[in-house]
Amino acid sequence: MKEYENEDLIVHWYPELCSHPGICLRTLPEVFDVHRRPWVNINGAEPIEIIKAVDLCPSGALRYSLPEGSRIRSEEACGPGRLDLQPPSAAVITIKPIPNGPLIIDGPAAIIDTSGNTTFEAQKMVLCSCGCSCNKPFCDGSHMKNKP
Ligand code: SF4
Ligand code: FES
Repeated sequence: MKEYENEDLIVHWYPELCSHPGICLRTLPEVFDVHRRPWVNINGAEPIEIIKAVDLCPSGALRYSLPEGSRIRSEEACGPGRLDLQPPSAAVITIKPIPNGPLIIDGPAAIIDTSGNTTFEAQKMVLCSCGCSCNKPFCDGSHMKNKP
C-alpha cells in the first residue's frame, strides 16, 4: 500500500486491487496520471474533487482518509472510498457482471480460501470472471487484452 498525503487528505493506493478501467484517470487527470511519478499528485486538485474521484473507484484500490487537522469536514468525506467506512448493518451486497469483464462487488464482502479462512474483506472489490487475471480472484484488467 502507498500513501499520498497533504495537510487535508491522504490517498491510499492498493495496486493489487486495481482492475484498470481507468475511471480515476479520466475523472481527474490532473491528479491521477500513470505517466507521471508519483502517479498520484495529491496537490493537483481540491481535496473535495479528489474525494469524489476516489469514491468512483470500483475496486477499492483507491481510498482516502483525513489527517488530523484537515480542513475537510468528516461529513464531506463519507463516501464509499473512505478507508474507515463502517457498513450499514443491513447492507445489501450487489454483484454487477460486466459483459466480457469482471464482477463488480458493491457491499461488505469477504474472500475465503478453500479451508474457510478469510483472506480479504472490503466494502467493494472487482473480481475476475474471465480466468485470465494474474492476481485472482481480483480482476487485473487482463480481460481487456482478450477483447475481440
Ligand atoms: S480500479 Fe480504481 S484505481 Fe484502478 S484504474 Fe479504476 S478507478 Fe483507478
Ligand atoms: S475479468 Fe478482468 S482479468 Fe478476468
